[in-house]
Amino acid sequence: MQGRHILLGITGGIAAYKAPALVRELRSAGAEVQVVLTRAAESFVTPTSLQAVAGSRVRRDLWDPEAEAAMGHIELARWADLLLVAPATANCMASFAAGRADDLLTTLYLATAAPVAIAPAMNQQMWQHPATVRNLAQLATDGVQVLGPASGEQACGEVGPGRMLEPADIVAALSTTPVYGQANLRGRKILVTAGPTREAIDPVRFLSNHSSGKQGYALAAMAARAGADVTLVSGPVSLATPAGVQRIDVDSARAMYDAVMAAAPAQDVVIGVAAVADYRPAEVATQKIKKVSEANGSTADGHDGSRSIALVENPDIIAGVAALEAGPLVVGFAAETHEALAHARAKRTRKGLDLIVVNDVSRDDIGFGTDHNAATLISDHWERALPRQPKAALAGQVLLAIEELLANVNRATN
Ligand code: PMT
Repeated sequence: MQGRHILLGITGGIAAYKAPALVRELRSAGAEVQVVLTRAAESFVTPTSLQAVAGSRVRRDLWDPEAEAAMGHIELARWADLLLVAPATANCMASFAAGRADDLLTTLYLATAAPVAIAPAMNQQMWQHPATVRNLAQLATDGVQVLGPASGEQACGEVGPGRMLEPADIVAALSTTPVYGQANLRGRKILVTAGPTREAIDPVRFLSNHSSGKQGYALAAMAARAGADVTLVSGPVSLATPAGVQRIDVDSARAMYDAVMAAAPAQDVVIGVAAVADYRPAEVATQKIKKVSEANGSTADGHDGSRSIALVENPDIIAGVAALEAGPLVVGFAAETHEALAHARAKRTRKGLDLIVVNDVSRDDIGFGTDHNAATLISDHWERALPRQPKAALAGQVLLAIEELLANVNRATN
């Protein structure tokens, strides 16, 4: 925390009364703190008390000429090493998720390139409402680190999840967990593949897999937050494009191959998170394939009604990128169900990858479709296990490893 610039946003929940204690904890951990207070928060805590503990003028309004003269809101957004919002109300989460910029705090959220952490606080029913769950998922996809909430008795008398973490616990979480997106990838061009591919059988059917795109989108979001110029080549998913990312939509493995190979020579890094179909039907029927019984009139002629589909292999996208002369650094993901490390090590060597991130897709609590993941990173020289954590956090860790590998490449070429 020593010397870190923390922009603390305080929104209008009862837990805002703990904000002066939080400012004190942050400052005694060595951080410099600037406070932004929303109008609703002023009902719970006064600017004067916050100013006294922060040692700087509290910012309340986007349209404050005096404050803008000292440090304009864009300067404030640039000053921050971290935007911490505590407490973060349901309304604040909804505004962030929707990308609104209707007050100083929401504007700063959009304007800052710094990582963002929020400590939610609200009634337990509000926390569990599908709309809040949806907003939380969007914020996680956008790379926001969520601290808590804790569970227990609430100010309203109900019991359940939604209590803001105690100030000391927030500071401890920020001190011990690397804040997402700490990697500095400014000036780097990074291409990420994400989601599944679909391999057409006929005009209405396809072969595919369970990838939701969450891990790839988290990587793209975090890379953009780390300053990179990010291209996301995406299979069909139902996720919003992360802020600042250029997205190219594709369908089949061959379309993904074409999009990636066209862009790859200009990239510094290509990260293959997509679950690309290894095979596609050898032939795509131009009309909907009829059931055997519908086509023949009946199966009584001795046919058992089964059909088979002949498959052919798809091109390997990341192996193609890795084979480029003077090509980018190439990172692959390995989705394994057994003997994960042995298979991943062999996969990395076979495909010529600089780094492979292996995850166990036989588990229900990580991998396909979930909001969390655990993985082992395998490079030429080291292996690192990453425990189960939100996909955005894991993305932050992968990007730190990539930053390290890029630095080694630079050292070797200089
Ligand atoms: O999308 P989510 O629901 O968030 O789930 C995330 C995930 C489980 C899909 C992700 O973490 C993951 O493991 N991605 C890799 C999936 C995969 O296809 O693994 P693989 O072991 O079959 O392939 C190894 C690597 O080769 C991958 O980087 C893959 O993108 C790449 N590949 C595979 C086949 C092919 N024809 N071309 C490729 O580039």
